[in-house]
Amino acid sequence: MNDTMTIPELDFDPYAPEQLTDPYPMHHAVREAGPVVRLKPYPTLVACARHEQVHAVLNDHENFISGAGVGLTNFNLEPPFRPKSLILEADPPQHTQMRTILSRILSPKAVTQIRATFAAEAEALVDRCLAQGTIDGIHDLAQPYPLKVFPDAVGVEADGREHLLVYGDMVFNSMGPRNELLAKSAARMGPVTEWIMAHCARSHLRPGGFGDQIYQAADAGEITHEQAPMLVRSFLSAGVDTTINGLGNALFALAHHPAEYAKLHADPTLARPAFEEALRWESTAQTFYRTAGRDTQIAGVPVAENTKVLCFLGGANRDPRKWPDPERYDIGRRPTGHVALGSGIHGCVGQAVARLEGEVVLTALARRVKAIEVAGPHTRRLNNTLRALDTLPLRLIPA
Ligand code: HEM
Repeated sequence: MNDTMTIPELDFDPYAPEQLTDPYPMHHAVREAGPVVRLKPYPTLVACARHEQVHAVLNDHENFISGAGVGLTNFNLEPPFRPKSLILEADPPQHTQMRTILSRILSPKAVTQIRATFAAEAEALVDRCLAQGTIDGIHDLAQPYPLKVFPDAVGVEADGREHLLVYGDMVFNSMGPRNELLAKSAARMGPVTEWIMAHCARSHLRPGGFGDQIYQAADAGEITHEQAPMLVRSFLSAGVDTTINGLGNALFALAHHPAEYAKLHADPTLARPAFEEALRWESTAQTFYRTAGRDTQIAGVPVAENTKVLCFLGGANRDPRKWPDPERYDIGRRPTGHVALGSGIHGCVGQAVARLEGEVVLTALARRVKAIEVAGPHTRRLNNTLRALDTLPLRLIPA
């Protein structure tokens, strides 16, 4: 019989700089200790890093709710740093109502319509990078690309978009503890919240863009006009920093695996699986939480109502129980079932856009660049949730 006393306890702080820099030994230890563990520095939560349990928790929204926050803070006990997201930090039926609208706006059909523009921007940017020869993979490619194409698609004006970077950093840091990373993010916020909220207003959004389409749903009575800017905010919080780091991590993976890049160069149609495998191998969003909505269990281990459950997405995506040779970045793998984009009812609503961005950037590289060489040491940008790079010096060898 299991009781809470039998849960293994490990002395890891997932938010300590050394764990954020290299989380993989910790993931291994958490997975091997058991399906559910406790972490000494955070005695009120339980954590899972095996694929089976992470997947099960994410797919059980009745027992494991999002409305009390999807970070460390339990909104039942402490207020969130900003008004709660109407979709990410919500449960059915409200979640379903919001999700229906955003899924429609970001449907496969809508994504087909933006494809040509996204591809043309990727080709132009890769050409500029190639002309430079040696680039910073983050500042010259992974960052400017989503910062251009995604706000363009939402319909946000070009001026001041750098605020989106500061905001994204803050949102994802706020899902961890009140540590130095959060304090530094908060100190940079200055006018950012005001800018974000102003740019969620209809008057700032290009008619017909993804943002304006949310207001059209309000015009049709599907949501209120007060809810509309909050849903635009979801696009702006969740759609930029995530893809920047998804692309950055993919460049990192390819630069460090020249044989895999050679396969991609030989067959650019591998761009999509190469991006997908990068999401698995180096998960952009490392962690998301749920809260037990009632007394429940994970793998037979009792979990009391209101307990925070830390899901290590990055750990699940390298679980040897699920993936053969999980540490290997292998573009021939079809990593179906990875949880880098979540799973279940909250699974990333922007995933078609994220995949499109990954695919068109890697295709443009594959066609024009024979080899990507590491041109110097990279540096990491530590964030409480995101696996992010600050700099990534690369040399692009033309085809
Ligand atoms: C590589 C890029 C991306 C990654 C790794 C990523 C990751 C995720 C993950 C893991 C979740 C699930 C959160 C949870 O279960 O609590 C999620 C949800 C979400 N994502 Fe993404 N995302 C990416 C790109 C995008 C883009 C481009 C958009 C906007 C178009 C977006 C908008 C959202 C929204 C609104 C949610 C909440 C969905 C819900 O609660 O139903 N994401 N994302």
